[in-house]
Order: sequence, then C-alpha cells, then structure tokens
Amino acid sequence: MNSADLIDLEAGTLSREAFSSDEIFKREVERVFVPAWNFVGHTSQLQRSGDFFLSRCGLEPVIVARDNAGAINVLLNSCRHRGMPVCRYDEGNAFSFICSYHGWSYELDGALTGVPKLRERYQGRLEREKWGLVRARVSVFYGSIWATFDETARSFEDYLGGDMQFYLRSLLQGPDGEDDGYEVIGGIVKWQVPCNWKFGAENFAGDHYHGYSHISVERLSIGLSGKTSRHNFAAVKIPRQPMSVADPRRGHTIRASVYKELGPYDPQAGSSEEVNAYYRKCHEERQRRLGDKARLLIHGGVIFPNTHFNSAGRTTIGFWLPLSASRTEVWRWLFVPRKAPSIVKDTLRDYYLRYAGPAGMVEQDDMENWTAAQRGTESPIARKYPFNYQLAMGIERRARPDEWLGEEVIITEDVAEHNQRAFYAHWARCIAGEP
Ligand code: FES
Ligand SMILES: [Fe+2]
Repeated sequence: MNSADLIDLEAGTLSREAFSSDEIFKREVERVFVPAWNFVGHTSQLQRSGDFFLSRCGLEPVIVARDNAGAINVLLNSCRHRGMPVCRYDEGNAFSFICSYHGWSYELDGALTGVPKLRERYQGRLEREKWGLVRARVSVFYGSIWATFDETARSFEDYLGGDMQFYLRSLLQGPDGEDDGYEVIGGIVKWQVPCNWKFGAENFAGDHYHGYSHISVERLSIGLSGKTSRHNFAAVKIPRQPMSVADPRRGHTIRASVYKELGPYDPQAGSSEEVNAYYRKCHEERQRRLGDKARLLIHGGVIFPNTHFNSAGRTTIGFWLPLSASRTEVWRWLFVPRKAPSIVKDTLRDYYLRYAGPAGMVEQDDMENWTAAQRGTESPIARKYPFNYQLAMGIERRARPDEWLGEEVIITEDVAEHNQRAFYAHWARCIAGEP
C-alpha cells in the first residue's frame, strides 16, 4: 500500500477507507501509534512520592508513578508473569504494586522485588532484574508528561520540533504567561464515541470552519461572560487574524489567532467581580512577561497522532484512543490555573462541563457529526467516494505575519483545510512505511 492509495495530495482527497478499513486500522496501530510520543498526564497529578494514576501510552495501559527519588516512571501495567494488570485503581498512593493473581510485587520504578516461592521453587534461577515491569521512555515538558515504548524513537524535543515546542510551551502557560501554570482538576474524564478516532483528531487539528454546527450553543452564550458566544475571547474587541499552523514533516497542527495589537483587558468573565479582577491582573501580567508574543491566542490543535488540546480560556488536553476502526475512547484532562483563587477554578470547571465532554453542549454537536459521518464510510457504495479537503488549497504560505510564529511551520491565514491535509499526508506516509 502506497500513501497515494489513501491520499491524493494534488486533488486534495482522502479515501474513506481510512475511517472504516480493519486492515488500515491494524497498520495504524503498529505504524502510527507504536512509534509515537504520547501525552500520558500531568505532574500536578503526582505531588508526592508514591502517587500514581493509570493512563495509556498509545494503546498500551500504563501506570504513571512518582518514585521515592522523585522521578516519574511510566510502566506497562502488565505483570511479567501472566500479563495481569498489577494496578487496578485509577489513582492513589502506593509503596509498591502487587499483582493480584500470584502475588509478584514491583517497586514504583517497576523493579521486581517479591516473588512467592522465590527461594524454594525457582532454585535461585529467576533473575529478578530481568523481570521488572516494562518501562517507557519519559519526557516532562513544562508540566506535561510524555512517553514512548519505542527505543529507536528520536527524543521528544525532536519529535515535537522547535516550532511546536514554542506552541506547546505557550499552551501550558497560565493566563498570566507563567510557564507550567496549570494543574489538573477533577480527574480524567473518559467516554466512548462510535466513530473512527481521526474524526476527532482532524476536527481539533484544523477545523476553524464548522461554527455552523454550534449555532444553538453560540446563541446560548455559554462563555464565561454569558454575553457573547461560546468562546471567552469573543468579548475581546481587538481584531485578530485566525491561522492554521502545521508542521508538515511531523504532522503536528495548531489552530490559533494573532491579535493585531496588544490592548487593554476586555471583561470576559462577567459572572463575578472577583473572577474578572483575577483575569484583569493576569492579562496585564501576561503582556509584561511575554511582550509582543502575548498577541498569540491558541485555540487548539493536535500533537501527532492523537494528543489533542483546546485552549483560549478552557485548557484541556487529552487523547483519542482507538478501540477499533469504528470506536474511540476519549480521555480528557481539564486544567485550571494553579495559583487562581478557588472561585476561578470553580467557574472554569462549570464552564468545561457545559462546553465539552460527553455532556458538554458543544462537544455533543461534534460527536453527533462524527458518529453519523462514520456510517458514511461504511456502506458499500458510500465508502467508494473520497472525502474532500480542498478548502484554501494552493494558498498555503511560508511567509508569516511575525517571525516568532515559527520557521519550519506552514501558516495559512483564515479558514483552510491545510492542517487536515498536513495531518493526513503524514499519517498516510506512516501507514505506507514511507520515510
Ligand atoms: S500474573 Fe501476576 S503474579 Fe501471576
Ligand atoms: Fe466543534
């Protein structure tokens, strides 16, 4: 299979088989997910030694744990004896992990310590140092934790690329511009959607274009101000330029906009004076810290393949976990500014819950679309006709309004499907095993 069998870059079309073929699903598990660096969680979930939570590294179930030396370990949650998960709690604090089948026990760094009958029945031949839990490579980036089991993968920084380091660092800055400014609130939200994982991925990657789906929520004005739109930034009066930003060599994408100029605070959080006062102070502090770069507003994006995020006043990070070609489990972390007063954290939590997730009004619209579109990739006639990704094709440009927006990324101003094309071009190369 060549990448050209899936995607026609000249025509701007993609085969619907990408969403429904079991053969392609098997290939993407091996060729897209195994070599990837994956978001697995956040350091604020591991405050003390012994703190742990369960996550996924690609498709693999993992334990993310802080050991007694303070290091973060990402361990395959599969006993080396017969494969049983050695940890069955979503989160907690532990001295060690003891498998509930035959009782092998492992340290927080995965080392195998206890084996029943070790001396009597293994005759001293069991080499415990070779039978610890399988450890992933780990990288911590401004509070976010990333992992891969691929020993041959390049470093996480190389995987991201220089420009995406800038965008991901910006995403993880608090509203006052401080690095690593967020903490997780309320555990990890998980739910399933009966569609291929790439419907969500391409929507987050570059879809500036489907406001039509969300007209009812726009009218309800579910943003913090309660006055305009579902977005908080809709209250800001300074004009801004929407952009699609893609690293075509790596498949990462960002939706963002850049304000024409720095400006005074526009009250976005009209619900309470205290919340408003907090955001006003943050706004001033951010401009002082970041200068001209404070004009950047990240809306969302995808770190290839399946780590997705939303921003612009509602910072969430998660992943689309493929269960089959037609079923996806979503994992979503909600973030609040670490140093914010509790009223701000509560206000944001309420906003997240009415916006996103299985009960969120906006994401329900999206899931309705993706679920119904999935059916359109499965029936024998419909699946023969490719999808169209021609929007603003041929007008991608490397020139950029501001140099600090990146050197390697390609930026397209206004509405485009440039990010989706970049995402799928990289995906198709991975599937076909093309370098
Ligand atoms: S499967 Fe874990 S001890 Fe046997
Ligand atoms: Fe949407």
